[in-house]
Amino acid sequence: LPGYYAGPLRPQVHYSPPQGFMNDPNGMFIDVDGLYHLYYQFNPTGLVAGNVHWGHATSEDLYTWTNQKIALFPDRPGEQIFSGSAVLDPNNTSGFFPNQTNGVVAIYTLSTGSGQEQVQEIAYSYDNGYTFTKYAGNPVISAGAKEFRDPKAFWHEETESWVVLVAFSQEFVISIYTSPNLIDWTFASNFSNAGLIGLQYECPNLLQMPMEGSHEPMWLLYISINPGAPYGGSIGEYFPGHFNGTHFTAVDAVARIADFGKDNYAAQFFYGIPANENQISIAWASNWQYTNNVPTDSENFRSVMSLPRYNYLTNATRIGYQLVSVPYNIESIFEAQLVSNDSLGNGTVFVDYSSIESGALYFEANVTGLSDMASLQGSVNFTFSSSVSGESVRGGTDLLSGTTWVDRGETRGFDNPYFTDKFSNSAVYDGSGLWRISGVIDRSIIEVFVNGGEESATNTFYPNSPLDTMALSARGLMRLRMLRWRFGA
Ligand code: FRU
Repeated sequence: LPGYYAGPLRPQVHYSPPQGFMNDPNGMFIDVDGLYHLYYQFNPTGLVAGNVHWGHATSEDLYTWTNQKIALFPDRPGEQIFSGSAVLDPNNTSGFFPNQTNGVVAIYTLSTGSGQEQVQEIAYSYDNGYTFTKYAGNPVISAGAKEFRDPKAFWHEETESWVVLVAFSQEFVISIYTSPNLIDWTFASNFSNAGLIGLQYECPNLLQMPMEGSHEPMWLLYISINPGAPYGGSIGEYFPGHFNGTHFTAVDAVARIADFGKDNYAAQFFYGIPANENQISIAWASNWQYTNNVPTDSENFRSVMSLPRYNYLTNATRIGYQLVSVPYNIESIFEAQLVSNDSLGNGTVFVDYSSIESGALYFEANVTGLSDMASLQGSVNFTFSSSVSGESVRGGTDLLSGTTWVDRGETRGFDNPYFTDKFSNSAVYDGSGLWRISGVIDRSIIEVFVNGGEESATNTFYPNSPLDTMALSARGLMRLRMLRWRFGA
């Protein structure tokens, strides 16, 4: 499938489909050669949601992607291949792979139309996930339910069993099933009515997650909610806890929100990363409230993925368990520093990046010497603006009011009542005198990270003229590292 990736709104380091409409990431796994496979909810024939196939792309570094042929197609008119996951079956538990150790099994929801039952099906691949054969005995899980979807499967070492989570979306139930072979599934337990419920639970994930400073095996249940998120539309929440192979128990009843921007939904975690390592996720960088209307149709695509994120749990000041999430291996893909690691002092630095053809930048401001009231007020601020139209995206932290914020309202390319523009979150300051803000801006998306990923905000924005100038100011002493993207210029 050919794609036109040069349009002014088309991000360069965030994955987007060659053409058509994309939503959730699906089936993310690492193959036997270490290649990352990303599938995604894909309408290859239109620019709005529907006609869902599994699109496919592969990458060695999670930033430069090769588009592959569509991996899963509906068989009949009205059918759609909804979200799901993929696993490797090296021991041939399924029986599909008598002659190989690199077999891949995908598990997904078959939708046959609204008001119809949703069922879970599997398909197997002999060629590392490029082509799939649907299992003749499908479906493998059916519960007579109309809103029952998004299976996420994994191998549970201790019980030597497959586990899958499926959402009974409108009952706010995540059901856990187990299986010896990925075909015959037995109901094990329900996790239900916890945290924020919104109006639906979607796209559950369950995986072991490293905990900073501890060897205790912790687990993370991640649930996406749409509609009915507190900021409107779609959002992700997570529950740290414990899992024994059949039951998940959260550490407490707290709903923890994963990202305080409005464009981070349906996150999925890669299958195949060792349990004691930081786990990698990718989310869909959009929101169901307005995704079908964003003004990228002129460039023949709609929606991009978030950056790949590295995740682990930490014990945070006051709030306890917190999921830390930062761009994976970010410095490996950006080159030459525009502003070196110098101390810039109090004040404002301006950087004209109009010569950087990609328009994609990584920035990182380390502010030190935050002490008196004056330095805590408006502690650090950034503005990315267009020298042509004056449009801008802004953000920063004010430690006096204890807030980090992002404002996309000064861009004028998209007018929609749900495309709200200002987001903020409590800035939990430990009094150390240090504060760090970093982020990636990439044509029509910005991801901001506080203190190395304690908080994050993902927001799309649609300027009429490309942003090309950065202003960064701090009331403490500032060190700014700003990197441009290697591939674009
Ligand atoms: C989440 C979702 C899933 C569903 C898919 C359909 O964004 O609604 O629950 O499987 O998208 O494309």
